[in-house]
Amino acid sequence: MRFDILSLFPDFVAQIAGHGVVGRAGERGLLSIHGWNPRDWAEGNYRRVDDRPFGGGPGMVMLIEPLQATLAAMRAADPAPAHVIYLSPQGRPLTQARARELAALPRIALLCGRYEGVDERLLQAEVDEELSIGDYVLSGGELAAAVLIDAVARLQDGALNDAESAVQDSFEGDGLLDCPHYTRPVEHALGKVPAVLLSGNHAEIAHWRRQQSLGRTWLRRPDLLDEAALSKADRKLLEAFRAQWLAAVGEPPDGDA
Ligand code: ADE
Repeated sequence: MRFDILSLFPDFVAQIAGHGVVGRAGERGLLSIHGWNPRDWAEGNYRRVDDRPFGGGPGMVMLIEPLQATLAAMRAADPAPAHVIYLSPQGRPLTQARARELAALPRIALLCGRYEGVDERLLQAEVDEELSIGDYVLSGGELAAAVLIDAVARLQDGALNDAESAVQDSFEGDGLLDCPHYTRPVEHALGKVPAVLLSGNHAEIAHWRRQQSLGRTWLRRPDLLDEAALSKADRKLLEAFRAQWLAAVGEPPDGDA
């Protein structure tokens, strides 16, 4: 899969994406990342890429023309059609489900805004989708682009060493949070590993993990439980977790009825 980054700091995004799983996926030929700097396609001595907003107000807005020229150069370099994503806090939230859909595309172009934003006409004409990585404001789209690349790249077949690990992640499949994990030593000053994980009984381990997943989701992200398709067995596991938790703590977590 191919990523094209349109940014005033394309190397910054490519560098973050050059490490770990994403870097390895690149080495394995599963993806390539190409940077495009609109300043290289800006006109004039000053290579201007932004201007003041009409109507007044603070900050600068990125100009249409350097971005159009950059997109044209990006398309000329490879004729394969690109799905163009603009990263901004006004976009729809990036979810694991959307990351999985994006992972099936052959080519994604990521437009990173700086300053107050990008001229709306360019967005209307050129952008297929606007995505946000959360309800907070970053000073530019670059970190959001790196986040998206990471979330999508690790889903490429062959990117992860253990093919199982993507399926077990939080939000995968059933939309629940992941269960807790433990490794050696069994006993430590910080506590013991839960005995069930040492039992060798795979059915009981699966049962415990499912219950922890349900319980954590209830405690930390009850909104996800509304969307999750829970079986009768899940509801029983969650009920038991709740009862145990309430007996130990005495009151429900914030927001739980
Ligand atoms: N650019 C600035 N803030 C952002 C956010 N929260 N998500 C995506 N892009 C952004």
